[in-house]
Amino acid sequence: MPGKRPLPRRIKVALLRSGVGRVGAPTSGLLLKTAYMARLAKWTHGHRDVSFNADADESEFRYNKRERLFQFVCDAEGLDGPIDYLEFGVAKGKSFFWWLSQNQHPKSNFTGFDTFTGLPEDFGPVKAGTFDTKGSVPETDDPRAHFVAGYFQKTLGPFLKEPGLTERSSERRLVVHLDADLYSSTLFVLTRLAPMLQPNDILLFDEFGVPMHEFKAFTEFVQAYQIGYEVLGQANDYLQVAVKLTHV
Ligand SMILES: C[S@@+](CC[C@H](N)C(=O)[O-])C[C@H]1O[C@@H](n2cnc3c(N)ncnc32)[C@H](O)[C@@H]1O
Repeated sequence: MPGKRPLPRRIKVALLRSGVGRVGAPTSGLLLKTAYMARLAKWTHGHRDVSFNADADESEFRYNKRERLFQFVCDAEGLDGPIDYLEFGVAKGKSFFWWLSQNQHPKSNFTGFDTFTGLPEDFGPVKAGTFDTKGSVPETDDPRAHFVAGYFQKTLGPFLKEPGLTERSSERRLVVHLDADLYSSTLFVLTRLAPMLQPNDILLFDEFGVPMHEFKAFTEFVQAYQIGYEVLGQANDYLQVAVKLTHV
């Protein structure tokens, strides 16, 4: 006589066979969100001793506190030499222009990727199409700045075939700013960039503290690619986070 199945397996089989999934779908979303919120809380607890905490002297939420985090990263990492700055999610260019004006090195390159027609999917209550600039890219006469219009999924591959980023010299630092909000977009960019990432590369996240989007994409990415990192700082209760890769 075959042995009795363990209880968790019996519950799973009963759920799969009963068709309860049809009515369970809305509940499963809630359960997932709760589980990822718990994961985020655990992660932030494990990274509470960061070098820079923008909330330490200003506990109120203020979106632009992220600029103090950027400034800390620039100062602590000595980012005044040549950098390759890649921004994923540019919209009108607020954060892009902060970085462009901050680093004045003539050999730095700044590339901003965006559809420039807004978010390709809903981001929670924020609807697809939000941040639409009607296809217009930000204007600048700085020859170090370039914009690449279209879905990352179509533009990043061809961009990476161009010489430059793939033959990286150690004196150029790479700063990748992930501000696409969405899980799918963030996961795509991280996995596509994985072959050229090196220790000391900086990753900035703008909506890290949204459990099922940037946080989920980042934690799955580092686990799957066995990437080590140090958290440099945070702002707004981990909505914005800066990390430095330690091994790739
Ligand atoms: C929050 S906005 C960027 C804000 C900007 N960094 C700033 O500081 O004002 C997010 C942007 O990500 C872009 N985006 C999200 N997923 C994308 C994708 N797969 N391909 C191209 N652009 C994407 C959207 O078009 C949107 O403009």
